[in-house]
Amino acid sequence: MKKTALITGASAGIGKATAAKLAQNGFDIIITGRRERLLRDLGEKLTSQFNVKVLELPFDIRDQAEVFKQIKELPDNWKQIDVLVNNAGLAAGLDKFQDADIDDWETMIDTNVKGLLYISKAVIPLMIKRKRGHIVNISSTAGKEVYFKGNVYCGTKHAVDAINKAMRIDLLEEGIKVTSVSPGLVETEFSLVRFKGDREKAGIPYAGIEPLTGEDVADVIWFALNRPDHVNINEIIVTPKAQANSIYFNREQVIRE
Ligand SMILES: NC(=O)c1ccc[n+]([C@@H]2O[C@H](COP(=O)([O-])OP(=O)(O)OC[C@H]3O[C@@H](n4cnc5c(N)ncnc54)[C@H](OP(=O)(O)O)[C@@H]3O)[C@@H](O)[C@H]2O)c1
Repeated sequence: MKKTALITGASAGIGKATAAKLAQNGFDIIITGRRERLLRDLGEKLTSQFNVKVLELPFDIRDQAEVFKQIKELPDNWKQIDVLVNNAGLAAGLDKFQDADIDDWETMIDTNVKGLLYISKAVIPLMIKRKRGHIVNISSTAGKEVYFKGNVYCGTKHAVDAINKAMRIDLLEEGIKVTSVSPGLVETEFSLVRFKGDREKAGIPYAGIEPLTGEDVADVIWFALNRPDHVNINEIIVTPKAQANSIYFNREQVIRE
């Protein structure tokens, strides 16, 4: 039977790669993000490449009313959502707590935590009605260990981890699976967004390391989604070979090889 997935933050990075992976595996997909043009381009590409249906929904996940409106107004055939990938998110700034910009904090909390809550609250009733579904929450190694200057970004990802566990417990009786995927360094637009377009600063976290790609993370997400019905992967941490956790890196790896 044809399945449908909704992927937030599919205009770039991990979300875009996940949309491609699911389309490749025959899913019809709903792709969201703010940049409409990028969603349209991706939609056209995936439709022609994989012969699946793609619905592009451009909206800001921080806007509670808009999130609920978008899901409520989905055509009936798109309301049968089997998979929700809560991926939209960002880091804004890398500063000591005492120096950080409060607007950056608001942006991260509103997107990574509140946005994830809104879309989940809107989609979960559709899953409960069908007594089936799988939610994948994209957390981070930043949700496992706090690192220097990571303060509120790490706080939001610790929150995603806790929300993931809470969903798993509360949705148990509804037959809905819940998984968190926590990547380490992935080369996407993430760092460019964190450093507000400063390419030099954005390259620093990846120096001397071969980072993960969006496709590496999409493969892991697909592994969790593609288990037999009775199997739930509760959480996965995935890092580059040269990264042990949020803090320890082997930055010589690329130079040595
Ligand atoms: N890259 C890493 O090293 C890394 C590591 C661990 C975890 N993660 C997590 O992985 C997820 C995806 O990040 P990425 O690395 O793929 O970064 P990315 O390339 O910057 O992609 C982020 C996506 O989130 C969307 N997004 C951001 N703010 C949004 C908003 N207000 N409303 C709707 N969509 C929004 C962006 O779309 P628009 O800009 O078009 O709105 C984009 O599609 C995030 O949750 C991030 O925290 C990343």
